[in-house]
This record gives sequence, C-alpha cells and structure tokens, in this order.
Amino acid sequence: MSYYKVKDLENYFKMYKKSVREPRKFWDRIADENFVWYQRWDKVFEYDMQEAQFKWFLNAKVNITKNCIDRHLAKRGDKTAIIFEPNNPSEAAQHISYNELYVRVSKMANVLRDLGIKKGDRVCIYLPMIPDLAIAVLACARIGAIHSVVFAGFSAGALEARITDSDCKMVITSDGAYRGDKTINLKSIVDEALEKCPSVEKVLVVKRTNENVSMKDGRDIWAQPLLDAAMDNNVAEIMDAEDPLFILYTSGSTGKPKGMVHTTAGYMVYTAYTFKNVFNYEENDVYWCTADIGWITGHSYILYGPLLNGATTVIFEGVPSYPDFSRFWEVIEKHQVNQFYTAPTAIRALAKESIDYVQKFPLSSLKVIGSVGEPINEEAWHWYNDHVGGKRCPLVDTWWQTETGGIMVSPLPFITPTKPTYASLPLPGIQPVLMDELRNEIEGNQVTGSLCIKFPWPSIARTIWGDHQRYIDTYFKAFPGKYFTGDGALRDEVGYYRITGRVDDVIIVSGHNLGTAPIEDAINEHPAVAESAIVGFPHDIKGNALYGYVILKESGEYRNHDNLRKEINQLISDQVGPIAKLDKIQFVNGLPKTRSGKIMRRILRKIAEGDFSNFGDTSTLLNPEIVDEIKEGKI
Ligand code: WT7
Repeated sequence: MSYYKVKDLENYFKMYKKSVREPRKFWDRIADENFVWYQRWDKVFEYDMQEAQFKWFLNAKVNITKNCIDRHLAKRGDKTAIIFEPNNPSEAAQHISYNELYVRVSKMANVLRDLGIKKGDRVCIYLPMIPDLAIAVLACARIGAIHSVVFAGFSAGALEARITDSDCKMVITSDGAYRGDKTINLKSIVDEALEKCPSVEKVLVVKRTNENVSMKDGRDIWAQPLLDAAMDNNVAEIMDAEDPLFILYTSGSTGKPKGMVHTTAGYMVYTAYTFKNVFNYEENDVYWCTADIGWITGHSYILYGPLLNGATTVIFEGVPSYPDFSRFWEVIEKHQVNQFYTAPTAIRALAKESIDYVQKFPLSSLKVIGSVGEPINEEAWHWYNDHVGGKRCPLVDTWWQTETGGIMVSPLPFITPTKPTYASLPLPGIQPVLMDELRNEIEGNQVTGSLCIKFPWPSIARTIWGDHQRYIDTYFKAFPGKYFTGDGALRDEVGYYRITGRVDDVIIVSGHNLGTAPIEDAINEHPAVAESAIVGFPHDIKGNALYGYVILKESGEYRNHDNLRKEINQLISDQVGPIAKLDKIQFVNGLPKTRSGKIMRRILRKIAEGDFSNFGDTSTLLNPEIVDEIKEGKI
C-alpha cells in the first residue's frame, strides 16, 4: 500500500499543500493504488456545501468486504485478522485468520440472504464485543444490507428508538453478554424493545453465555445451526460507491438521536488511508483499539481501517478494571500489542489507581499510542505518555467525530512533534478553519474560534437517515459554505490545533469567553483531585459564574475542604486567570457520564442552577444513580 507515505515534516507540508491544490489528483491516486474495484469512477467528487450534497468516486463499483478480506487471502490467508480477548482472562483468546474470517463472513452472509435480507435492507446489530459482532457487520456489508450497530450497553428504550427510526427488518443479538463480573441478558432487552417495533421480522441469536432465553416462535432463530449448514463461500454484492454502508446513531444536543449515514467507497478510502498513516501500521504489527464497535471509533478503527490494511486487530470483550486495573497492560503484554488506542476517560480512571498496575509490565512492544473522544488534559497526557508510552512512543491525539467517519486532525508518528493537549495538524486532504462570531474566517496563528472544515473529504457523512433537512440545519447553516463541527479550537503559534471542547460548553463570565477544558486542566493538577467538571450558572453581576464539581482521589491528607477550595482557586488563578475562579465547588463521588465517556453537562448545569424539576432523558447515562447523589449533596 502506498497512500503517499509521509517521510518527514517537510514532506508533510509539501503533501498537505498538494492535497489542497489538487484534491482530485490526491484522492484519485490513493483510491487507485490501494483497493480492488469492480469498476473505476468517472469523477473523483462532486459537492454542494449549501445543500449538503456529497458524492465521491462517482459510478465506481466496489464491495468493501472484498477489500477487507478476499484480496488478502492469497498473501495473508493464514495471517491473524482478529485476536479475540475474552472478558475473563482465564478463557482462551482466539486467533481468527483471514481464511477463517472469509469462511465465517461468507456463511453469515448466506444465512442473512436465506432469511430474506436484501441489498438496502437495514439490519440492527446489538451484540457484545465478540467475534460474531465483527462477522455480522461484515456479512451485512457483503450483501449490501445497511448495518446499524447499537452499543450493547444501551437500554431497551434507546434500542427501540434506533430500530424504529431506520425501520430495521432484522436484529442480530446474543443470549447474553459478559462485562466485568456481570452477566447481562441481552436477549430480554431485545424482547422488550421489540414490543414496539413492527418492522422487525426476524431476530437472529448467537450464543455467548448459554443461559436460558425465551425464543419467540416464527421470529427468533438460533444462528449456529444455520451457520453450520451454510455454504462457506459467498459472491459479494456489487455496490455503487454511494450506496449506504451503515447508519450509526449519535446523540444530538437536542432531540432524538441522529442516524448518521456513511456510504461505501469514500468511507473505505478514508478509513484505510488514515489507519495506515496515523498508526504507522506495519505488516505483522498487532493493533488494539479499546473502543466498542458500537461507536464510530470501533467501526473505523477496530474493523474497517485495520482489515482494509490486512492488519491484525484485537477485539476486547472486557473492561479496564476487571479482574483488576492492570487488565489493559496485561493484554498489551500478552498479545505483544504494537499500537494501542484508547480514550482519555480510561486513562484518567487508570491513572487514579496505583502506579504498580502499569509498572509491572515492560510494555516494550508498544510503538504508537493514541487517544480519542474528548480533549485529553495535560495531566492525563503526561501520565499516558510517560507510563504507557515510556516517553518513547509518539502519542497521537486524534480529533474527529461520528460525522467525519475518520480521523481529521492528528500527529503523524515520528513525523509531527507531539505537544501535550494538542491534536496538532490536519491530515493531508483535510482543510480546517477557525471562524469568528461574525462568520469570518480567522487567519493567522495564536487564535481561537469555532472549528469548521471548508472542503469535503471522502468520508463525510452524507445525511441524517430520513431527515436531510436536519443534516443541513445542524452542520451547514451556522457557517454557510462550511461544515461546522460544534467544537471550539485554538491554533497556536506554529499552526497546531488544540480542541478546546464543544462550543456549547463555553461559558461567558463577565464578558470573557472561558473554555471548560483549560480550567478543568488547572483543577486536575491539584494532587488531591482525580477529575473535575465545570459549568456556568446565572450570576447577577457577572452574567455567568462558574460551578465546579470535583472528584477527589482517595487521600486522607486533604480533609479540610475549605483549604482545598482555596488551593484549587489559586491554581486556576495562576494558570487561567483570576476571572476563571470558581464561585462554588462541590466535592462529589462521580460525574454523570454517557457510555462513551462524555460528561452530561446539561444535568450538572441544572443542578448548579438549583433547578431540579426535569433532568430530561437520563437513559443513556452510564451511572444514573450519581445524579441523585449530586443533587442531594447540593441541598
Ligand atoms: C466529539 C465527537 C471520534 C470518535 C469518538 C467520538 C470530541 C473527539 C477528540 C480529541 C478533543 C475530541 C469532540 C468531537 N473529540 N476526539 N482528540 N480531542 N475532543 O465521536 O461521539 O461523534 O464525538 O468528540 O468534541 O466533536 P463522537
């Protein structure tokens, strides 16, 4: 694979300029050299930023699974495609070769076809992190069915809303799921959701926990007997470049979840290109991303990106704290992982525990470590860089979104010098801009603004399922002619980007715009603090004042909370400025978080305002019980 491999920083700038000057040539060559096509494109792309119309590789014909599996068989048939690391470390890991993956995906594809699933049908996949999840996703793509993976931690209500929104014809699930020391009965959650989902005709059930589940006659089918009987080869469906590949739901700041639609060729080209370059993947490396396949990170960088590159990718069923806090490090050692990709929230949780958990392991196989999902604060960055990366592995802080399909801004390992908390430079082909309130592009460096992308890229989402107008309104109205990310960013003196957080998290105090992230960074530097979140609340004179929720480490030394409050404010005063000092500080045991690790600031804002009337939908929270605890602490 070539992908215009960047050689050094000078070469990066050259290539970047080329990608801006001649985007058609740039993408044409990447698409041409790295994939197998049934038919080439007539035109590289066509777009209209006002109407949010994007077409890439027009009229090309392709199947993404031919590129993920079939074309590797001649050279890499026996190479491990997937390493499955089960929840319980005493259960043996599984190594699935590309040959075996071909057979298992073919069988599943044949089963789906036999059950009446056709090109364009929507199939909801609600499975734990087991190989069947990867196989179900790829089998859908094989026959041209549109997969809609729903994270298996979501409740029946959330599942039902997602199935109904896209009229799924089938649900693929399992009897149960293991997660840490818990066993979850997934099938019963599906049963509950389906009470209100008339579109679903069949439920295909794979076995994981072997407990008794109820099977509805005529609707529910065990997968294994059908898989055993199915033919072990399958002719892939010929897909148009712009045929939808999948729908993935992302929660909006308001309203029902948005079903982001990604199409075939552009997504394929972009995830393969970014995987290769951002992780510096080399043949025989073992790559591990700890996300769940239920999120875009898992779609793009557990499955598609790695498999398109013929990589070995780890699927981990468990959690970082089971059986103890050394699990991540143990798995890295066990499978000799070379690239490790995780989220700041996991890093912060592990950094809170004894350093012995990580220091027990040499972790010398690691070459590149990555971060994704939220701004990584300075303390977590250093902990990750020093204790996991051994100060020797480049830490790639990758900024992107469900909507972008793939990584947009990130250092390139061994090429872009890393800088704590900075996602650094856009990948070649990506044109970020910062915008001011008057909708003008802010030129120059050392500036902050709203982060937009001013030119399309291959894997930009094409629409919101069933609601194109909402797609236009959400992303293309605020700054006409540009894609608005919803994030704020800072561009430093050399042009590096630092994502400062959602623009809606900005709090204006006495006319000063304050981003939550730098203030939280300052608070988190206090030795007694594990994590913090700040929100604004109405103030007579300042307009808004700041309210901080602070989680303390388990430490007996800081019993005097008033002193602690003073010290925290002194730190903020020193690092951000006296304007950013907190009016109120509440010590809490946890923060309300979504399952992807994002703090639900909406709830914290209401508590800070003293408005306990209606917290809205808390069903997607990982820890709903914390809300009452915080509320009571307040009163
Ligand atoms: C939002 C997108 C991208 C896959 C996982 C999340 C935030 C993501 C970073 C980063 C700072 C980041 C942004 C973005 N975000 N990565 N490296 N630094 N912020 O996907 O759920 O669609 O969320 O996550 O705010 O807009 P998502």
